[in-house]
Amino acid sequence: MKNKIQNSITTLNIIAVLLLISIASCTKEGPTGPPGKDGVDGKDANIVCGTCHNNTSGLLAKQNQWKNSLHAQGINFTRNTIQCAFCHTEQGFLESIKTGKYETARAINDPVGITCRTCHNVHTKFDSTDFALTYSEPVKFMFDETKSHDFGKGNLCARCHQSRTLSPKPVVGGPDITITSAFWGPHNNPSANIVAGIGAFELPGSPYTNSPHKNLIGNSCVTCHMANPIGAHAGGHSMNMFAHIGTTKTPNLAGCQGSNCHDNINNFDYEGVQTEIKQKLTELRILLAEKNYIDTTTSNGEYHYDRLKASQAKPLTLPANHAAAAYNYFLVARDKSFGVHNSRYARAVLRNSIEALLD
Ligand code: HEC
Ligand code: HEC
Ligand code: HEC
Ligand code: HEC
Ligand code: HEC
Repeated sequence: MKNKIQNSITTLNIIAVLLLISIASCTKEGPTGPPGKDGVDGKDANIVCGTCHNNTSGLLAKQNQWKNSLHAQGINFTRNTIQCAFCHTEQGFLESIKTGKYETARAINDPVGITCRTCHNVHTKFDSTDFALTYSEPVKFMFDETKSHDFGKGNLCARCHQSRTLSPKPVVGGPDITITSAFWGPHNNPSANIVAGIGAFELPGSPYTNSPHKNLIGNSCVTCHMANPIGAHAGGHSMNMFAHIGTTKTPNLAGCQGSNCHDNINNFDYEGVQTEIKQKLTELRILLAEKNYIDTTTSNGEYHYDRLKASQAKPLTLPANHAAAAYNYFLVARDKSFGVHNSRYARAVLRNSIEALLD
């Protein structure tokens, strides 16, 4: 009996040992192979991002300047339709430089105004090439697409800051034209046309020449408007020519002074150019108002807000050369630089337009 019991205990022991061995052999690893090659290190996200998002103030300075620009503060990015969005919205502009068309396929939903991403390829390659400009080719003018000008880095600006296609378009010395809209004329802001001396109706009279600003300033708009800033208020990414701080208004002369041309300049009315252009512009304005072509009563003396006296209900029919003179008035007024951009061209345009109305 005792033997029988002992035997069965031994049998149980053997089963237990076998079980243990089989469990142990299930979890037992094979022999270790030779070590593999080291993998390529993953990128440290903090370092890639830190190229720009770091503890220096470079990016912040630009953001603060931009916040003081009309690009950031303006409300007109609501102009999101096919004919407006390619200048007034970020998405429209980026689409139009891709297609090369001065229009968008459709109106832009969720419109965004003019931000870093309009002008730079932010977050594309995550390195310094992201700050390259989105557009850099010479600009073909909407006013006359057979003409173009190279503004250097200013090509970016000129693509938007130019007058639009015009209809109806007078021909100098041609037949009368009939206009049915108060908004007929160059759109705000045709600075690129004045800088390049392309886009006025060239009435006969004084020859049309250009001031050295047209070709001597390689990056055009950028050299003057983005010169060394005053605080975050003028120059740099504010693109303003004046710093409005409190009640004082200070011109940013850094672009002029750094040019080796006007080292001693102390305001923009250099050699009385602005005074002279304002006088001629006023003379032309009075003539146009006397002929009842333009309405000067609602613009509060801000010439660029004057409008043509024309509407669907009251069309305006006028001789071609008078229409040309009215257009030229709006062109110089809405350029807003009073001759700084291209004094010689502005002077000839105004002189000859005044002559045309006195004929
Ligand atoms: C080459 C420079 C650059 C690098 C590299 C970069 N950023 Fe930016 N980032 C910018 C600029 C410029 C803005 C401002 C964009 C704007 O306001 O439109 C910005 C804005 C942002 C914002 C604010 C929200 C937004 O999208 O406008 C966030 C979040 C951000 N970056 C995260 C990152 C991360 C995460 C990385 C790394 C993966 C990174 N950035 C790498 C330049 C850079
Ligand atoms: C995508 C089109 C676009 C580009 C590119 C652009 N601008 Fe503008 N700019 C505008 C619009 C639109 C406004 C007015 C915004 C508003 O009223 O909402 C404006 C406003 C301005 C103003 C203020 C005008 C005023 O009446 O005070 C200045 C100055 C200016 N831009 C200069 C520049 C310069 C310099 C560049 C190039 C570095 C440039 N802009 C590039 C469309 C553009
Ligand atoms: C070729 C580019 C361009 C196109 C197209 C364009 N705009 Fe503009 N617009 C501008 C620029 C640049 C300014 C800024 C003028 C300034 O502040 O000096 C502006 C300013 C304006 C302003 C403000 C004017 C002021 O001085 O207060 C209005 C309103 C406006 N645009 C409406 C429109 C509408 C509506 C359309 C479409 C029918 C349109 N724009 C198409 C470039 C354009
Ligand atoms: C209207 C167009 C425009 C807008 C909007 C704009 N930039 Fe720029 N940015 C430029 C131009 C043009 C230059 C070149 C200036 C020069 O060469 O003097 C430039 C230069 C720069 C540079 C220097 C790049 C380099 O290679 O040295 C940085 C950084 C920069 N911008 C950041 C920004 C940031 C951040 C924003 C938004 C807060 C912004 N920009 C908005 C046009 C723009
Ligand atoms: C030689 C320097 C210079 C160049 C080049 C230049 N500008 Fe100007 N711009 C000025 C000055 C100075 C004023 C302001 C005049 C004043 O109000 O007394 C001005 C005024 C303007 C205004 C009206 C802004 C306002 O605050 O009323 C706009 C918009 C403008 N320029 C855009 C441009 C564009 C776009 C280009 C390039 C096609 C350009 N400018 C080229 C110097 C320059």
